[in-house]
Amino acid sequence: MKPGLTIALPKGRLFRETVTLLEKIDRGAKGLGEGRRLVFEDAEQRTRFLILRPVDIPTYVEYGAADVGVVGKDVIEEADRDVYEPLDLQYGRCRLVVAQPAGISDVQSLADWSYIRVATKFPRITERYYNSKGVPVEIIRLSGSIELAPLVGLCERIVDLVETGRTLTENGLAESEEIMRVSARLIVNRASQKTKYEQVTEFISRLKQVV
Ligand code: PRP
Repeated sequence: MKPGLTIALPKGRLFRETVTLLEKIDRGAKGLGEGRRLVFEDAEQRTRFLILRPVDIPTYVEYGAADVGVVGKDVIEEADRDVYEPLDLQYGRCRLVVAQPAGISDVQSLADWSYIRVATKFPRITERYYNSKGVPVEIIRLSGSIELAPLVGLCERIVDLVETGRTLTENGLAESEEIMRVSARLIVNRASQKTKYEQVTEFISRLKQVV
């Protein structure tokens, strides 16, 4: 008998759309996401679902605790894990940007700062970005409400996700540079790609038909 697939699903913003996508290809599971259970099994389809914080999904997939997972491109880049990323799922679209207080956006460019402090939930991406520009930067790692930091003098700039732009505007901030475009991606464990070739390939090709 073929071994089953373990699929890591992200809690939070991407969860509902991910479950809807799985239902479209008849890989949903009854009760998925209801209550507080973190593991669901579908014996008939030989599939196990793990419900995880997005930030942990690349780790589960790299170590093979999950064969495949769904997570945002931002999380993949920040995690820097050795996983295969075969498919853009086209939802969960947003952008990772640099922003600062609106008043200084048009008069001060990056070159005006000899040394800047940037608050973010994405320290690795931020470091790579400023390194590539040759700009010295001090990164302050925060875990949420990033838009508050420049308002109270913690930093000059932030690197954060923007979807509608409302959070920036309502906190008096303006975007100055786009670092990357983000959407939900399918990631695959490198060993599972070989040892469960048929299941993984079939799963990817069915997803491709509906995205
Ligand atoms: C995200 C992101 C921004 C906001 C952007 O935060 O970090 O703060 O959404 O959305 P908008 O452009 O549509 O306003 P989230 O709600 O996940 O909370 P957090 O700040 O605690 O991370």
